[in-house]
Amino acid sequence: MSSTLPAPQPADREGLYRVIANRRDVRNGFRDDAVPDDVLTRVLAAAHQAPSVGLSQPWDFLLVRDPVVRARVHDLSVQQRAAYAATLPTARATAFRTIKVEAILDTSLNVVVTCDRTRGGRHVLGRHSQPQMATYSTACAVQNLWLAARVEGLGVGWVSFFDERELAECLGLPEHVEIVAYVCIGYVDAFPPAPELALAGWANRRPLAWAVHNERWGNRALPGEEPVTLLNDTLAAIRPLDPAAISEAHERQDRLTKPRGSLGVLEDLSVQLAGLAGACPPPLPEPAALAIFAGDHGVHAQGVTPWPQEVTAQMVANFVAGGAVVNAAAAQVGAEVCVVDVGVAATLDPVPGLLPRKVRAGTADMTAEPAMTREQAVLALETGIEVARDLAAAGNKVLLTGDMGIANTTASAALIAVFTGADVAAVTGRGTGVDEQTLARKVDVVRRALALHRPDPADPVGVVAAVGGLEHAALAGFMLGAAALGLPVVLDGVIAAAAALVAQALAPEVTGALVAGHLSAEPGARPALARLGLRPLVDLDLRLGEGSGAVLALPLVQVAVRVLHDVATFDSAGVSDKDTPAPA
Ligand SMILES: Cc1cc2nc3c(=O)[nH]c(=O)nc-3n(C[C@H](O)[C@H](O)[C@H](O)COP(=O)(O)O)c2cc1C
Repeated sequence: MSSTLPAPQPADREGLYRVIANRRDVRNGFRDDAVPDDVLTRVLAAAHQAPSVGLSQPWDFLLVRDPVVRARVHDLSVQQRAAYAATLPTARATAFRTIKVEAILDTSLNVVVTCDRTRGGRHVLGRHSQPQMATYSTACAVQNLWLAARVEGLGVGWVSFFDERELAECLGLPEHVEIVAYVCIGYVDAFPPAPELALAGWANRRPLAWAVHNERWGNRALPGEEPVTLLNDTLAAIRPLDPAAISEAHERQDRLTKPRGSLGVLEDLSVQLAGLAGACPPPLPEPAALAIFAGDHGVHAQGVTPWPQEVTAQMVANFVAGGAVVNAAAAQVGAEVCVVDVGVAATLDPVPGLLPRKVRAGTADMTAEPAMTREQAVLALETGIEVARDLAAAGNKVLLTGDMGIANTTASAALIAVFTGADVAAVTGRGTGVDEQTLARKVDVVRRALALHRPDPADPVGVVAAVGGLEHAALAGFMLGAAALGLPVVLDGVIAAAAALVAQALAPEVTGALVAGHLSAEPGARPALARLGLRPLVDLDLRLGEGSGAVLALPLVQVAVRVLHDVATFDSAGVSDKDTPAPA
C-alpha cells in the first residue's frame, strides 16, 4: 500500500486560514534588511509547488537586485502610472495621487515570475484547448509565493503598471516567455489590517454572498442558506432613512454659521443623505459614477419619433468614445461614465467602457404584444442591481442615472400614466422634438398599448414588462441596488423618473435614496416627481437625456454634504447666534 499524507491538524487549518486572511499586498513600510538566502529559497520552493496544468510548471523566477535595472523598470512604471492617471475622472485622479502603487526602489529584491506557454510541447495535458491555463498556473505560483512570504514576515507588492512586452525587453527575456507578475519583496514591521485600497476608500471588498450561485447563475446563497433571487435580496435590504442621523443632521444644520434654513433645499438634501447613510455627516458623494443604460424600443415602428433606431447604437459608440454632451459635462464635474448595453437592437462590438449586458435586442412593439416577458423584465432589473453593486464596490459614493434609447419617451409616458393615473395626453411629450401630428400619434400609441395590456400598478414587474423599456427596468434595478447599499442616486430626467416609479412600486422606501437631478421639459416629469415626492434641483428646460441633468446636479449634491463636513458651528467659530444673545 502506498503511503499517504498525514491528516491536517486543527492548528494547521487555523494557521492556514489565518495566513490567507492576513495576506496583504504591501507597498509601504519596507525595512532595509536583506532577505536571507535560505528564507528566499523556502519562499521560492513554496511557489514552485503550485498546481500547474499537466504538471507543466511553466514558471521561472528572475531575481532582480541590481539598482540600475530596478531604476530602469521603475521608469517604465512611472510612465504607465501617468498614462493611467490621465484616464481618470478628477475625483479619482486626486485620490489616485495619494495611493502608492509600486515599491520597486524601496525593496532591494524584486522577483519577476514568468510563464512559458510552450513548455512541455504539444501534448501538455489540459492545455490543448486552453493555452491560457499555463498563465493561470503561474498565477497559482505567485499566490503560493505571496502566502509563504507572509509567514516569513515579508511584505509582497504585485506591480502591474507595465506594458508587458516593454518590461520583458527591458529585462532581456526571451521572446517566448511572458511576464505574469512583477513583485517587490522586503521585510516590514506591520501588515495593514485590511487591503490598503479599502482603507484608502478606493474600492471595497465584495461580500462572499454576492459571488456564490446555486445550480444556476443568479441563484445566490451561501452554503446552507435558502437561495434568494438578486431582486428579492435587494428589495429586502432597502430600509427607511435612519431617524437618529436625520435629527442629528437637522441639529447640525441649525448650529452652522449661517441663518437657519438659508440653504433651502440643500439643507433638506443633506438631511436626507445623512438618513440614508445612517451617519452625520454622511460620506462626501464622490467619486461619482454615471451609468447610461441603452436599449431599443419595438414601438419605434409606430412612427413615434423622426430619429432612426440606429441612432441608439451610434450614440452608445459616441458615449464610449467620449464625444457626447454628457461626456463633456461628466468630465467637467469629475464623474466616471459607464455605458451599459441592456437592450440595444444592434450587435455592439466589445470596447472598453461598454458593459455588454444585453437582455434582448430591443423590446417588442407594445401596441401589439408585451414589450418583454416578465422574466426579461426581472433580468433587466437585476442587471441594473449588479451594475449598482459593481460601481459601489469600485468605491463610488454616489451614482447617477443616464439612458439612451430612441423612442424611450413613449415608453416613459406609458409608465408614468400607469403609476400616476394621469391622462396619457398630459404626460406624453415631444421627446426629441416631434411635430403636432407625431405627438398626436404618440398619444394614440400609448393609449392603445395601455388599452391592450391594462397594466396593474400593483404589479410593477408586469407594468414594465408590458409597456416599459429594457433601460427603464435596468434603471429601476440600479436605483434599488444603490438604495440597498445606502448609496444616493441622482436621477436624470423623465426616463429616470418613469423608472423610479417602477422602483417605488417595488420598494416604497427606495425614494429615500433618490435625488431628482433636474426637471425635464417633458410634461410627464412633473407628475412623476410629484408622485415620487422629489423636488428637482435644476430647472433649465433640458430635454437631452443621456444623464446630462443628473451630472449637472452633482455639484449641488456634493456641496450640500460638504457643508455638513466643513462649515464651522456658532460655538466653534465664536459667532453669535441670532437667538442666543452673546455673553456680556
Ligand atoms: C494581478 C494583480 C496585480 C496587481 N497590481 C497592482 C499594482 O500594480 N499596484 C498596486 O498598488 N496593487 C496591485 N495589486 C494589489 C491589489 O491592489 C491588492 O491585492 C488588492 O487591493 C487586495 O488587497 P490585499 O492583497 O492586501 O488583500 C495587484 C494584485 C493582483 C492580484
